[in-house]
Amino acid sequence: MANPTGSTLSHLECTACGRTCDADELHRLCADCGKVLYPRYDLAKVALSPSDLLGREPSMWRYREVLPIRDADHVVSLGEGFTPLLPAPRLSARLGLGDVRIKDEGQNPTGSFKARGMSAAVSRARELGAKAVAAPSAGNAGGALAAYAARAGLAAGVVMPEDCPRINQVEAVVSGADTWLVDGLIDDAGRLVRTTSEARGWFDVSTLKEPYRVEGKKTLGYELAEQLGWELPDVVIYPTGGGTGLVGMWKAFAEMTELGWIGEKRPRMVVVQAEGCAPLVRAHDRGERHAPRWEDAATDASGLRVPVAVGDYLILDAVRDSGGTAVSVSEDEMREATRELAAAEGIYPAPEGAATLAALRRLRDTGLVTESDRVVLFNTGAGQKYPDFVPASPEFVPADSPAWASGL
Ligand SMILES: Cc1ncc(COP(=O)(O)O)c(C=O)c1O
Ligand SMILES: [Zn+2]
Repeated sequence: MANPTGSTLSHLECTACGRTCDADELHRLCADCGKVLYPRYDLAKVALSPSDLLGREPSMWRYREVLPIRDADHVVSLGEGFTPLLPAPRLSARLGLGDVRIKDEGQNPTGSFKARGMSAAVSRARELGAKAVAAPSAGNAGGALAAYAARAGLAAGVVMPEDCPRINQVEAVVSGADTWLVDGLIDDAGRLVRTTSEARGWFDVSTLKEPYRVEGKKTLGYELAEQLGWELPDVVIYPTGGGTGLVGMWKAFAEMTELGWIGEKRPRMVVVQAEGCAPLVRAHDRGERHAPRWEDAATDASGLRVPVAVGDYLILDAVRDSGGTAVSVSEDEMREATRELAAAEGIYPAPEGAATLAALRRLRDTGLVTESDRVVLFNTGAGQKYPDFVPASPEFVPADSPAWASGL
């Protein structure tokens, strides 16, 4: 190996039946039970302590010993991760809360946190010899996959719902991915990717259906701890579609405890979904471990228009084990929260990110979050990618109008 990363990746393990398999072959779901495979690491061999991180590059690859790429020459990076954890003092005061912070994932390459997962998955697919990668996407994942595949010099295929945001269609096409729109939702697109993968020679990187996107997303958890001085917040509010970021963070917390970097304390993990597509909220309310498909899913928060999640049991377990909860919010609440976050703190969020603020307000009202809680909201994307979500039309005033001189 030309340039070893020091990765301590040891094997893959099924999260449901415990079957293990070789991490140095391409795998997708567990061959025995069809559930999610997680990469496992030989954490006892991690020769790194938190203080060693200080001089490292400000990207998610600063945690390379606990990431799955063995040779640094295979890392496909556009500078993803290590996004700021911004204090939100005005919002905190307005809500009567002590400490609300925003993890601003809109600052990632391609404008969303999907960059993390795709950086890891495309890197590892390339390392293991894949020549072409593909995924279904509700929106941002398609743009991110196209960008990382381009960066890697791999061919890419993206299949998206025909009504997914225009910018996501454009970014996938411009970045050179073969891109198709279909009549249906992301799970229909996923079925079509599976159907055509063999003929096209694609390695399918559908989220949680291959083992490495979650590894990119788990760096959210490492960063949270590092940015808070190796102490986790009391509450994490996360806009959940497939839930990869939430379960990734949960995995990161366990790894960091095993490494001795943090203690046993866990944040209460809060799932936020849109009222028009809330399969996990419904399952959580019913005390179930699996979330049946949500029919007629509808929301303008495209990343939340995910009617079924393959990792449903991982998400619901994390929520319950952490003492968290699941809430759904309306389209109007998301629109209002978009304006509020942008105008109060200068952070123009994606609708999915705005949903976390709407959820926080609910949780505060019902007493589930109180003044003494340190809360982190995940703004998972840039508002600029959704220019039509909140109507905004500046008034036109002709340049020769006398109104200018009188202060309009
Ligand atoms: C901006 C944004 N937020 C949240 C999500 C949901 O992410 P996850 O699938 O990790 O739950 C998506 C997925 O498309 C997204 O694009
Ligand atoms: Zn299994």
